[in-house]
Amino acid sequence: MDNAGGWEKSWEAGATPWDLGGPTPIILHLSDTCSLPKGRTLVPGCGTGYDVVTMACPDRYVVGLDISKTVVEQSSKRFSSLPNAKYFSFLSEDFFTWEPAEKFDLIFDCTFFCTFEPSMRPLWGQRMEKLLKPDGELITLVFPIDERSGGGGPPYKVSVSEYENVLVPLGFEAICIADNQVAVKPHLVNNNMNLLDKPYDQEDNVTFSINFQGLEKIRIWKKKKTS
Ligand SMILES: C[S@@+](CC[C@H](N)C(=O)[O-])C[C@H]1O[C@@H](n2cnc3c(N)ncnc32)[C@H](O)[C@@H]1O
Repeated sequence: MDNAGGWEKSWEAGATPWDLGGPTPIILHLSDTCSLPKGRTLVPGCGTGYDVVTMACPDRYVVGLDISKTVVEQSSKRFSSLPNAKYFSFLSEDFFTWEPAEKFDLIFDCTFFCTFEPSMRPLWGQRMEKLLKPDGELITLVFPIDERSGGGGPPYKVSVSEYENVLVPLGFEAICIADNQVAVKPHLVNNNMNLLDKPYDQEDNVTFSINFQGLEKIRIWKKKKTS
């Protein structure tokens, strides 16, 4: 299975329309309100890794994993002089085959589950199960939930039940589900998906608009305790 090829090319070409140009709003919110679990944290398919550096602190060491060597090299360099740089690292590995020395207290899946075609999802679940400590938390940003897209992406449409179908048989239970109130609001974006805080009718070098409101839910999962 060649998992890297297409992604590597996208990163090399800078064709990364999913890149928000900053941390995912919900991670910023949870981080600012000290609502995230502490401990060893993994962001699989982290891309540029804004969430990685946002979550990293003395109480939380964060590993940003991505199959693309290009983005891992770029981000390692780009963020190396941040004051919290010793609390995170970027690693170029395939999520499906990587064998870390230690498991994780927290895993944040953001736009990663929806990256894979549905036949890969059971394997995604098995890997989450393997990589999470027995008492760990898996946070999934369930996105994009869009009935209007008629089965489209990006890259693959998801639903809450599709996560359940994969995780519940593995012994996970949802301890929280909520609409993401801080999903990206209607925004104009430029070619690199950088958010532009300007009104809609303003003429600019803008290619399209985005709005994730109503398309995202946050779900937190834990392994059920077995007695
Ligand atoms: C849709 S992008 C999302 C990136 C990031 N999570 C974000 O929200 O900006 C999917 C990312 O997963 C990475 N990826 C794809 N397959 C992977 C795999 N098997 N193991 C690790 N990373 C992978 C890609 O290189 C890409 O950066």
